[in-house]
Amino acid sequence: MTTVLNLDITVFLQTYWQKKPCVIRNALPDFTDFIDEHELAGLAMEPELDSRVISKQAEQWSVQQGPFEDFSACQGQWTLLVQGVDRFLVEASELMDRFNFIPNWRVDDLMISFAVPGAGVGPHVDQYDVFLLQGKGSRRWRVGSPEGLTNKQPVQGLCQVDNFTPVIDCELQPGDILYIPPGWPHDGVTLSDSLTYSIGFRAPDQVQLGNYLAEHLQTQLTGIKRYTDPDLTLSGSPAEVSANELDTLKNLLHQAIDNNNFSQNLLTMLSEQGIDPDINEPVDSQTLQEHLASGAKLIKLPGCRPLLNQQFPDCLFINGEVINFSPENYPLMCQLVSQADINRTDMAAAPDELDIFCTFTTLVNKGYWEL
Ligand code: SIN
Ligand code: CO
Repeated sequence: MTTVLNLDITVFLQTYWQKKPCVIRNALPDFTDFIDEHELAGLAMEPELDSRVISKQAEQWSVQQGPFEDFSACQGQWTLLVQGVDRFLVEASELMDRFNFIPNWRVDDLMISFAVPGAGVGPHVDQYDVFLLQGKGSRRWRVGSPEGLTNKQPVQGLCQVDNFTPVIDCELQPGDILYIPPGWPHDGVTLSDSLTYSIGFRAPDQVQLGNYLAEHLQTQLTGIKRYTDPDLTLSGSPAEVSANELDTLKNLLHQAIDNNNFSQNLLTMLSEQGIDPDINEPVDSQTLQEHLASGAKLIKLPGCRPLLNQQFPDCLFINGEVINFSPENYPLMCQLVSQADINRTDMAAAPDELDIFCTFTTLVNKGYWEL
């Protein structure tokens, strides 16, 4: 039985994950804010981060997109929201690690918001699961059920739903978490100056998977099949597409999907995070070994979440690329890539030690780990 977040994870997954919302009181008893509204505003000035100010004044909603040069948009009842903070702050990345009972590939990012009393982004629905962790201050949250919702757009760039009957109506205090599955409407209204940490997930829909398939097929130099019909016979009407023809067409697509190359490319595409790591002076495997032997550690780039899959035991899928390694090291790789840092003893456990050093030399030189 795994217990993190002051909660039995097995029970959480069975009862709530993707099924119904829940309030987890004192979920992170030891949690303290690692940022304040001023530092958050600083992040909102960075062009690499996606930020917004959503405000309401005299019943008029407005949305302003960052990066911000000043904060004149913060008028009335306003909320400042900054997306993707886990890539910029180690503490934010560590907070995301507390949720690693959900697989890396389902994780999207950490959004942090600051809101003044009375503020919120209005009743709305998200496409994805989210854990809302209350930092400083408090907020009243109401959550409704997914049926019978009416969408509205009070202003360009702000999607809301009409009011709903709550199934949860609670006040979140620091350290409390509200879990909301996709499609469940929710509305948070700030009671006292509040920081909210949204641990957000993602799940591709068929459109996105179709795009992945198209992207994969376009890169295939060989093996692309086309429809053929050497057994064509005379049919009743030239307008008719036979059931058999339709099946054959769909079968061509099935064949493209049931292909190992597609599996590998799909994993690669799922690992894409749009990270643009800083590249340091290249090191060689020998230097890396010496550094680790002298007590240094390898530190993972904040927010970087690589993927592994047993069918490809020599592949590390990271930020849209594949790094090859010895399949003997697969079980150890599963462990090492999930750690925030790696030391000499961790590496010494490798069945193929030479290979593990070479792999991490590549990863360091690509900027995904740092000495
Ligand atoms: C917020 O932090 O104010 C909004 C979070 C959400 O409702 O998804
Ligand atoms: Co939401």
